[in-house]
Amino acid sequence: MHTQSESALAPLPLPDAPFLAALVGAGGSGKSRVARAFPPDWRLELDSFRQQASGSPGDQTATPTAVTVFRELLEARLIRKMPTLVDSTNSERGVRAYLLQRARHWRMPTVAIVVRTSLDECLARQGARPPAKQVPPDAVTRQRADVPTTGQLIEEGFDAAYYADELDLLGLLLRRSATADPDPLNDVRHTFGEDLAGVFTWHNGREHGFATGTFAVADREITVRWMDDGDPYDHHWQAQLNQACTDGCPGPLWVKVNDAADVHSVYLGGAPDEPWCDGCDSHGLAVG
Ligand SMILES: Nc1ncnc2c1ncn2[C@@H]1O[C@H](COP(=O)(O)OP(=O)(O)O)[C@@H](O)[C@H]1O
Ligand SMILES: [Mg+2]
Repeated sequence: MHTQSESALAPLPLPDAPFLAALVGAGGSGKSRVARAFPPDWRLELDSFRQQASGSPGDQTATPTAVTVFRELLEARLIRKMPTLVDSTNSERGVRAYLLQRARHWRMPTVAIVVRTSLDECLARQGARPPAKQVPPDAVTRQRADVPTTGQLIEEGFDAAYYADELDLLGLLLRRSATADPDPLNDVRHTFGEDLAGVFTWHNGREHGFATGTFAVADREITVRWMDDGDPYDHHWQAQLNQACTDGCPGPLWVKVNDAADVHSVYLGGAPDEPWCDGCDSHGLAVG
């Protein structure tokens, strides 16, 4: 993991020491996409606090709560000199003044990153968003008109100000992604979803051709394995059935599973495909 901002930010002309960065741009300009270039744990996003408070990122009645949470977290991070990226429009001067004042109080350098996408583009992108994320056109128009130049931001007191399109943010993101530790749960997440991946553990050791792991919550579990027989078109997952093969053969039965629905079916005692027995036929002859 990144603990040093200098190694995390090499392609950018940003300070080595921790700083407070404010994205500045209208709704739909691409701020949150820009934010993805930076380590995710730097980010404070007003939309996500509104979402947590109200179930909808665009619910303006949740703004006071979201701002309170934002300010508490901003303060906590500034006190600890944690690098922080503020992902909200920051198009109003008073909002930026608050950020500058808190950063100055804690002696944190400040950086503004302006996302200067055209109004037409910002408006067009609203249409592609789910309704809960859409910002009304008049609000987008106002925000876009309020977006300052980098020169104005320096005059306001930011230590540095850049236009996002002048920074190699894709290079930064690629570099961070390329050097990240591989996620051993990637395949599990991809096939069975985020929540099941959160309760999955790989068993120790990978026997040739397959790796086994378990989904477990409290006292219940179900075991699956990833079959890799060398043929790229024949990789697949199997879940272990809760029964042995036959009286004569105590071998465990496995069945092919394609997704969470198949695993659910096995958990409930079903078999979404023909079961296979390790005991009778290690090559995987169907016995069901
Ligand atoms: N450079 C880009 N190319 C294509 N689509 C983009 C680009 N930047 C942003 N978008 C898309 O535009 C929409 C708004 O971007 P987002 O980052 O959510 O804006 P903001 O956070 O400023 O409201 C999203 O659907 C996003 O995927
Ligand atoms: Mg956003």
